[in-house]
Amino acid sequence: MNPTPASAPTDQATPQPGLSVVLGGTGGIGAALVAQLRAQGSTVLALGRQTQPALDYAAEATVAACAQHVAAQLSPTGLALTRLVVATGFLHGTTASGQRAEPERSWQHLNADALAHSFAVNAIGPALVMKHFLPLLPRQGRCVAAFLSARVGSIGDNALGGWYAYRASKAALNQLVHTAAIELARRNRDALCVALHPGTVDTALSQPFAKSGLQVRPPDVAAVELLGVLDGLPPGSSGGFFDHRGVEVPW
Ligand SMILES: NC(=O)c1ccc[n+]([C@@H]2O[C@H](COP(=O)([O-])OP(=O)(O)OC[C@H]3O[C@@H](n4cnc5c(N)ncnc54)[C@H](OP(=O)(O)O)[C@@H]3O)[C@@H](O)[C@H]2O)c1
Repeated sequence: MNPTPASAPTDQATPQPGLSVVLGGTGGIGAALVAQLRAQGSTVLALGRQTQPALDYAAEATVAACAQHVAAQLSPTGLALTRLVVATGFLHGTTASGQRAEPERSWQHLNADALAHSFAVNAIGPALVMKHFLPLLPRQGRCVAAFLSARVGSIGDNALGGWYAYRASKAALNQLVHTAAIELARRNRDALCVALHPGTVDTALSQPFAKSGLQVRPPDVAAVELLGVLDGLPPGSSGGFFDHRGVEVPW
């Protein structure tokens, strides 16, 4: 596989040790994370459905190929994969079978295709990322794998109902993150694996639903906050679910 310059790591004047990888780095929050990491002088690699190699959860082979691409960036440079951020997600739009999916207001709107696609993108895809990317994390020293989840995936916080597919698929993601954190700790006790709620952020995903009254933040603001949380996670916080202010979210 021949990577194009578009997906090659960007070396800045004062690089921090370690490689940061953003999956879904072409999405609203993902692109802002990539820009902020670059502005901080980090070496960063963005992967998405339009990059080369492409990351598309419809095919596990693309996840494996992206992981191989990252591994190839690590070995010659001696960099360690110190930040893995998974910024992919699906709330509404076109499913893999070409049907429209919208968040359900009632059980009457439940639809097998929309449920399957939500689980494919929000839970199964990130699980395959765990399979192929977590082994690339260093066996010693601090490193973080952060998966963007959503507060509405919290069962304890669910007072409004609705949004069945998104809620349930994010709840599944949260369980996957907690489970992977336990396994990851056996490889590297300083490694962290967390779920993050970014808050309401002005992107294509939230745009139809961002009601006035909600605190909607621009992606660049959210990126600064999320990286602050990610880099400030204390030892012992692996396996947790945190919001963009670093406050723990109930499961
Ligand atoms: N925005 C908010 O207010 C908000 C609130 C709570 C949680 N979140 C979570 O934050 C994360 C980022 O959301 P966002 O607002 O940045 O949304 P977005 O702009 O719609 O970005 C979604 C990302 O997911 C990727 N994606 C979608 N389907 C995929 C597939 N089949 N395979 C691989 N990648 C796929 C997209 O790839 P392409 O770039 O190739 O299209 C894009 O990079 C999501 O997990 C979302 O649930 C967002």
